[in-house]
Amino acid sequence: MRKIILDVDTGTDDAIAIMAAVRASQLELTALCSVHGNAAVEHTTKNTLNAAYAAGGGTIPVYPGAADPMVKNLIPSRANPVEEPILSGTTEINGVVVSINPDLLPLKESPYPPQEKPAALFYVEELRSREEKVTIVATGAMTNLGLALRLDPRITEKIEEIVIMGGGVQKTNITAAAEANFFKDPEAAAIVLDSGVPITICTLDGTHSCGLTEEHEKRLRGVGTLPAIFTANDVRVRRESYSRLQPLEREGTAPIHDALCIAYLIDPAVATRTVTAACKVDCSDGISEGRLQVDGRHFREGAEVHLILEADPDKLCDILVDTFLEEG
Ligand code: RIB
Ligand code: CA
Repeated sequence: MRKIILDVDTGTDDAIAIMAAVRASQLELTALCSVHGNAAVEHTTKNTLNAAYAAGGGTIPVYPGAADPMVKNLIPSRANPVEEPILSGTTEINGVVVSINPDLLPLKESPYPPQEKPAALFYVEELRSREEKVTIVATGAMTNLGLALRLDPRITEKIEEIVIMGGGVQKTNITAAAEANFFKDPEAAAIVLDSGVPITICTLDGTHSCGLTEEHEKRLRGVGTLPAIFTANDVRVRRESYSRLQPLEREGTAPIHDALCIAYLIDPAVATRTVTAACKVDCSDGISEGRLQVDGRHFREGAEVHLILEADPDKLCDILVDTFLEEG
């Protein structure tokens, strides 16, 4: 069974990724780290605890992570908040205003507290001491990993692969040039990409290509377990928000970004178009800040990264349905 650590800025799609990772028989989720992003880290930590608990993984340790990016908030022109309607979009369902990423997700409170140790320190101690390698899945800004790699670059020896949701080649969201997770801590993303560890990125192009539909929502709702119903509700909110705020090419679909990372680990066949390319992250103060730069030249510069550019929405739904079939 593949051992993974999940590093999340829990939001709804992170919560679905957490629930899938807890439930998947193919994976052993050994720890969770929280980070700033969809909400302040106090909230993402709570959401992480509650999502794990909802899926039956309440005792999996949650390490609270960084509240701020490594560098960018120190530079006034880079710290400016950016309008991101689609990442915090609200919509009304049956008279109730719901949001894609409310500060606190509608989940029962976990009785388990977070760990005392901060996430970056956990990575260093855990990876120094463990015998076997572990896969790290990062679905938020990569501040915790960036800090840990700066503290002790040798921890890379114990990382089998880093699977990331972030960056976009032709698709972006938070700015015209960048996807949110890379934009929120470009330096950390650059450190991770340059770490020498094998890296797979579920790009925004990939997550948009496998947006779920009303039919998928119905299938998930029919499963009837808590994680499946949570996912069905999120598909509904996202479909309505995306159709108003950022319509996708396939009309009426909504991306559940972070879930694709876990689906890919459960069954890599969900990814239908991938390339290996040299990648860098733009850490400059300008309109391309946080951009995933893919070098298509023959003599190319940057870390060789495996990019998922397209994925199969039906397969994604099948994986989630199978994974959520049994109650935790
Ligand atoms: O750009 C999408 C990403 O930003 C997802 O990981 C979402 O949860 C937010 O963190
Ligand atoms: Ca996320």
